[in-house]
Amino acid sequence: MKQVDFPHSFTGSPAPATNLPELMCAFSYALDLTEGQPEGHSLRACWIAMRIADAIRIGRDERRIIFFATLLKDLGCSSNSARVAEIYLTDDRSFKHDFKLIGDGIGPALRFVLEKTGRGAGPVARISAIANILKNGPALVDEMIAARCTRGADIARMLRFPEEVALGIHALDEHWDGGGRPAGLSGQAIALPARIALLAQVADVFFCNAGPDAAREEVVRLSGKWLDPELVRAFTAISASPDFWARLAQPDLERMLAEELPDEAQLTVDEDYLDAIALAFGQVIDAKSPYTAGHSERVGTYATELGKRYGIDGADLRSLSRAAALHDVGKLGVSSTILEKPGKLDDEEWQVMRSHAGHTAAILGRIAPLREMAMIAASHHERLDGTGYPLGLDQTMLATEARIISVCDFYDALTADRPYRAAMTAERAFAIMEQEAGGAIDPHCLAMFRDVVAER
Ligand SMILES: [Fe+2]
Ligand SMILES: [Fe+2]
Repeated sequence: MKQVDFPHSFTGSPAPATNLPELMCAFSYALDLTEGQPEGHSLRACWIAMRIADAIRIGRDERRIIFFATLLKDLGCSSNSARVAEIYLTDDRSFKHDFKLIGDGIGPALRFVLEKTGRGAGPVARISAIANILKNGPALVDEMIAARCTRGADIARMLRFPEEVALGIHALDEHWDGGGRPAGLSGQAIALPARIALLAQVADVFFCNAGPDAAREEVVRLSGKWLDPELVRAFTAISASPDFWARLAQPDLERMLAEELPDEAQLTVDEDYLDAIALAFGQVIDAKSPYTAGHSERVGTYATELGKRYGIDGADLRSLSRAAALHDVGKLGVSSTILEKPGKLDDEEWQVMRSHAGHTAAILGRIAPLREMAMIAASHHERLDGTGYPLGLDQTMLATEARIISVCDFYDALTADRPYRAAMTAERAFAIMEQEAGGAIDPHCLAMFRDVVAER
């Protein structure tokens, strides 16, 4: 097939300026998706946290910590998704969503787990999963919460937040009465940002599920158990007015939140920091499945090297690297039961799997400095012959950068283990890719990529 020289889709200008609160608010939608929460949950929790912080007269520096610790409380949540799906044999996203509604106490938790486990699985698999939970339940929960806390704190550090933000995220599941995890801390020993974030989380989950009265009742019910009674008193006072809930439900909450930290709003996130942020969120994506560990980072590295061979440089090369690192961000919205399925996907599952490309476009489209490359990133499963997804774009519409990311993604998928097959050698992967050249992937791009891999 004749090689057509497509124009780059990027404009060559640096990404639009943004500040950290704005950027993190936009990224927080991806965390809601992972956690199975209604869109905007992280934003609403953050807004509630800021109102509590104001009510108890928190100083400027600690306000900043509370803001980011609450907004990004779910940074580590993708790291236990695969385990949740494996242990409970059910969709991790709806399991996590519903689990937050059962409140405290061993009885309700056990009932919930027994009812949910193995839904849709055969009777033998279900019985064996329940037996495993009854035997090892507390240890399994310890393991999953520890993974989530540790990973969340590590990613906060990668995002260059101060240690207090990382520790706030780490202690999200600690309870005032000492019955929480991972360390069983109690009372004031739990960092204040974590205590506020947990209260804000409970309030928004119940608000979204059943309205303001349910949110207030649940918070009061958990006072002294999960939640700090003094914070509960502050929350009860400020949430008594219908205006509080009306403001929480406003569609421009994202804009309002970005103005919560006026000093921070003056500071622009520079290009190097933006690269680091893309890499950190790449880790959130890769943590979703043991099979994708390192995938986003490797595709980012391959695409950068291949892009250089195409003569792409400067701001365009940065955009390409970020698009490649974040191309699968939409997978955060796909159940791990599908991502981890060892066999063939049925039609419905395949449709959900394919939806990840559209989710990628939607998530990145919300993030001002990444908006320009949202469609490039989302096009990594498009094919030159027009039979790919999400849009069925063909060779007349696929930009060079999209072809680059497709080739790198294809290669990395073949050379990594998958639930249904072992990793292939480079030689075998290239033999398969050769068969797809011209139909799925760009032959010229593939030839150049061979050189990249050979040099590595
Ligand atoms: Fe993908
Ligand atoms: Fe991928």
